[in-house]
Amino acid sequence: MAKAAQSGELRAAFQKHERETHEHVARLEKVFAEIDESPRGKTCEAILRIIEEGHDVMKEFKGKPALDAGLLAAAQAVEHYEIARYGTLKTWAAELNFDQAVKLLDTTLAEEKKTDETLTELAQSGVNQHAEAAA
Ligand SMILES: [Fe+2]
Repeated sequence: MAKAAQSGELRAAFQKHERETHEHVARLEKVFAEIDESPRGKTCEAILRIIEEGHDVMKEFKGKPALDAGLLAAAQAVEHYEIARYGTLKTWAAELNFDQAVKLLDTTLAEEKKTDETLTELAQSGVNQHAEAAA
């Protein structure tokens, strides 16, 4: 999505969050260590479908002014899904007294929320207007 974005600001936001996502994975590994479990890969159909939506947008709007607005909307769907999941995990960790996990999950949750806010600001400060202007 970063490669597909036309706006430099949107591309930078995607790239920044991609770097953060590597940290999210590292934090999850620490969470698993605290609960004495080992991480296993499990396919999540919901997130795969949301990502597929992003690919659909890239195909449908390639070269069109609405591309960035569509990419941004797809990215926010991903962030909202992550916010839901990390929020639940943080609550469960707190209820089970995994204090380190709560801190780790809270840090990630804060970054997901910040990314969502940044995307909203970008949408409102130009990306959506760019799409509307050409409609
Ligand atoms: Fe995210």
